[in-house]
Amino acid sequence: MTTALYRRYRPQAFGEMIGQSQVTEPLMTALRSDRVGHAYLFSGPRGCGKTTSARILARCLNCAQGPTDTPCGECDSCVELGRGGGGSLDVVEIDAASHNGVDDARDLRERAIFAPARDRFKIFILDEAHMVTQQGFNALLKLVEEPPAHVKFIFATTEPEKVLGTIRSRTHHYPFRLVPPAAMLEYVQELCETEGVAVEAGVLPLVVRAGGGSPRDTLSLLDQLIAGSDRDADDHVLVNYERAVALLGYTHSELLDEVVDAFAALDGAGAFAAVDRVVQTGQDPRRFVDDLLERLRDLIVVAATGAGASAVLRGVPDDELERMARQATAFGVARLSRTADLVVAALDEMTGATSPRLQLELLVARVLTHAGVSQGVAPAAAPAHAAEHAAASAARTPAPAQAAPAAAPAVASPGVASPGIASPGIASPRGRFGGCGLPSRCRAGDREPRHRCARRRVAGP
Ligand SMILES: Nc1ncnc2c1ncn2[C@@H]1O[C@H](COP(=O)(O)OP(=O)(O)O)[C@@H](O)[C@H]1O
Ligand SMILES: [Mg+2]
Ligand SMILES: [Zn+2]
Repeated sequence: MTTALYRRYRPQAFGEMIGQSQVTEPLMTALRSDRVGHAYLFSGPRGCGKTTSARILARCLNCAQGPTDTPCGECDSCVELGRGGGGSLDVVEIDAASHNGVDDARDLRERAIFAPARDRFKIFILDEAHMVTQQGFNALLKLVEEPPAHVKFIFATTEPEKVLGTIRSRTHHYPFRLVPPAAMLEYVQELCETEGVAVEAGVLPLVVRAGGGSPRDTLSLLDQLIAGSDRDADDHVLVNYERAVALLGYTHSELLDEVVDAFAALDGAGAFAAVDRVVQTGQDPRRFVDDLLERLRDLIVVAATGAGASAVLRGVPDDELERMARQATAFGVARLSRTADLVVAALDEMTGATSPRLQLELLVARVLTHAGVSQGVAPAAAPAHAAEHAAASAARTPAPAQAAPAAAPAVASPGVASPGIASPGIASPRGRFGGCGLPSRCRAGDREPRHRCARRRVAGP
């Protein structure tokens, strides 16, 4: 039995925290300059370090060498409040989810009267503080406003707006944030090295993505992957890409390569075969489309930054970057962005769709068709489609005057605007909002999209 990674790696000092410098730096400054307040509110998403920071702050305040911004780690208080310690008598952690009533608040009030047993301060950490009832907060109000000199409060919550305003205004509020991918990636890389775990290329970026910016979630996922991994020839645990991608439910990069290559080459047979594999392997079509969008975004980055792409797309292996550079060139920036728009629209459409598979296949058809239109290649459906748009645009009745921006005088009859007068939304027939082509959604000739539609940005003169 091993303890969870996120417990073994719980930071014990502010310097060990990642991605929360907006909180840790001012707190450390306050500690150094002896300007610590009497009540704090730590808010932010789950698993980002609120409880951890509350414990660190308590450790800093009660360290025998303190108050200090870096606990000594050796005194009784530091040891007791450290990772392996059993907790200190003078630091009371209260789970407000189960102690949220007036009685609990009164109980707390009574405990606050007594001086600390050994250390400098009596520190109350109220975790999940949003669970405290209105009456509970009211019973605490006086104490939080003017506590005895030896008492400190730290409230931690994911929902600061639920903490009574009168309590909030008596605290210093520090918002925690999700940790950005770059910092997280670096952190898990170091952690794997410390643990002596080998990880195949491409795994850690997936873990970071799946963790969604929460260090705890990220470490939990990594823990799970490590637990399910075999040892390699050198007796190191090796986290394998295939397993990671399957467990985390992402699309294998080879499959993405296949689809993107097929799109680039306008290879309909290849594209549909790849999509069929998505469905046959039981993968969620929506997840696949999400991954496809992410890949297109990466390709746009590669196209825009060239050799500098690795600085933006951290953790992507070199061979993958080379492949993406080839794909980006084959696509061209304009088509990449148009394709991404189609994918965004499809993703939108897939929410709650009865047949996501059908939506996915329609998307493939649309991507191939639109590519044909823009390149002058002519897949079967393309000319009809384009003609239909143009006809519909031209036939439209003029729009009401108030819809025409001032820049477009009356001569610019909408739909067949005179060249040179390009007012937003009413330019040449092709430049009009052309309708996204989704059944029962935007129609050719609509002035505004009928849903969060990507097609409008696509249309240009
Ligand atoms: N900013 C961070 N830096 C490093 N590790 C973190 C950070 N935030 C969270 N963790 C990890 O996640 C675990 C849970 O963090 P915790 O402070 O309990 O989160 P919460 O914000 O939900 O109270 C910690 O034990 C630690 O391993
Ligand atoms: Mg917590
Ligand atoms: Zn100490």
